Amino acid sequence: MGPYVFARAGLTVFAELKFPFSLGSDNHSGVHPKVMAALAAANRGHAHAYGLDEVCELAKTEFRRLFGPKVQVEYVFTGTAANVLSLAPFLSSFNSVICSEMAHLHMDECGAPEKFWGGKLFALPSKDGRIFPEQTAELFQRMGDQHFSQPKAVSLTLPSEVGVCYSLDDLKNWSRFCREKNLMLHVDGARLTNAAVTLGVSLRELTEGVDVVSFGGTKNGLMGAEAVLLFTDRAKNEFKFYRKQAMQLSSKTRFLAAQFYAFLKEDLWREIAVHTTSLARGLSESLKDFPEIRVAFPVQSNAVFVELPKPWIHPLREKFMFYVWDPQTHLCRWMISWDWSEDLNQKLLNEIAEVRKCFPIK
Ligand SMILES: Cc1ncc(COP(=O)(O)O)c(C=O)c1O
Repeated sequence: MGPYVFARAGLTVFAELKFPFSLGSDNHSGVHPKVMAALAAANRGHAHAYGLDEVCELAKTEFRRLFGPKVQVEYVFTGTAANVLSLAPFLSSFNSVICSEMAHLHMDECGAPEKFWGGKLFALPSKDGRIFPEQTAELFQRMGDQHFSQPKAVSLTLPSEVGVCYSLDDLKNWSRFCREKNLMLHVDGARLTNAAVTLGVSLRELTEGVDVVSFGGTKNGLMGAEAVLLFTDRAKNEFKFYRKQAMQLSSKTRFLAAQFYAFLKEDLWREIAVHTTSLARGLSESLKDFPEIRVAFPVQSNAVFVELPKPWIHPLREKFMFYVWDPQTHLCRWMISWDWSEDLNQKLLNEIAEVRKCFPIK
């Protein structure tokens, strides 16, 4: 791959791009052109700051159209901040949050939740990243016991960290359970739009009965833009104070809102989700021609997890960037970004066929 030139802004910066397209993460892709155009469109004249600008109002209208009139929309910069701030206003340090053992909140946020609200996570063993109310009985035996961290919220990841979706019935069960136990129900929706497309439901149906959602932008073609969606009146007023203390209050909010406006208006979110989920599904279907490869989880998002024959991993990674998820089982993760294509799927399959010729598995 030749030098990549960033010359448009009068800068000339050269960088060798070893992997022009990566399966490593949906964070590896750039910004969707429609989102970039919206940023450019918002970049004129002066506007109020801290959420009081016109673009925030426009984006709010789109959020209400898709999630219902009650939704309160708050922007932050990262998915970690969205998760932590979705929960912090509702919790005291003696409270705990129930999540799965592979939840991003638990495994990949460097203890930010524990540092920020000072409480505890109860991480339950999961089925493909999903947890269920029946698993929690033990945690409720000591309610009121001053020696025990008191459960106050449940955090589900949808789609899960390995790309599997809860069904609408699963979500209803959790919602009912949380009402009975007076718990907050949080959804880490870094890729929520993929779940809506896979399940064939609207974003509103999907979030019915949920109190707060981390709604992902960056992994879906935006840039440093995530939204916390509050559906409950509890802590509606407090949220803003927590966000400021977390240093996540953007001043030039129009540039976060403009991205979400482009994402939601004319349902670009759906177009992207249909594109990435169907490419992921198509790829996993084509892998049937390679019995040496095991698709490890149902493909219900933009992720394909595969157990590859060990000798194939290195040569394939020479051509396509991806991560080995579990070196013991040779489990690898392929993430499909918004700018992935059929053509790239085919290139990957061709490469696998080549590698098979060089390293046949008996
Ligand atoms: C399910 C999930 N939640 C939250 C995040 C956090 O995003 P960020 O890296 O922007 O903090 C990620 C990022 O990989 C994720 O996969």
